Amino acid sequence: MELPTERTPESVVEYIISVMTASETTPYIGEPISQLQHSLQCAAQAADAVPAVDEATQVAALLHDIGQFAPARDIRALVSKSGQQAEIQNLGGQPASQSVGRVGHETLGAQFVLALGFSSKVARLVESHVAAKRYLCAVDTSYMDRLSDASKRSLMYQGGPMSGDERDAFGAEAWCQEMCQLRKWDDEAKVENLVVRDIESWRPALLRQLRENVGDN
Ligand SMILES: [Fe+2]
Repeated sequence: MELPTERTPESVVEYIISVMTASETTPYIGEPISQLQHSLQCAAQAADAVPAVDEATQVAALLHDIGQFAPARDIRALVSKSGQQAEIQNLGGQPASQSVGRVGHETLGAQFVLALGFSSKVARLVESHVAAKRYLCAVDTSYMDRLSDASKRSLMYQGGPMSGDERDAFGAEAWCQEMCQLRKWDDEAKVENLVVRDIESWRPALLRQLRENVGDN
């Protein structure tokens, strides 16, 4: 499905569901499941969390890797608009140099969902899911021990555990807890043959998130 020219909550949700559905054929790097299954497993954990987390956090869990598999032409069409990049880099008060150091899938994904009409909370949670791993490794050695070998290897490529000011700034962010929770769901969302709620079941939550954010503007 093409990016809708007239973006309403309904048309955007239709588009997102088509992009997510297509990701059933995209393998999740290094794991025996698809990107769609990975996203759905991550979101299902958010929806079942005790204590409960808000809907923005659940939707962020669903969309956290969208920068990995959304059509490149669509991402380019939305994130190249002037102002988008600067806006996202300031989310949560984090300069880009402290978030990931380069424009990766998490940054593209965050800019993309923001441009589609989701809130700055959804965007920041999408943006921070790689940085959150670096933060968790800095503050919780048992977390680092539990990472898969592939994830430990990519940690070094991603800059290793945070330290000093970077760690303190991340820990002081308003949504630090949600960012860390999302990261842990992400780590667990790799189970082969696990049946969780389907993408269509997320339509009402996606719609509410877009409508609420329009209302806030
Ligand atoms: Fe992921």
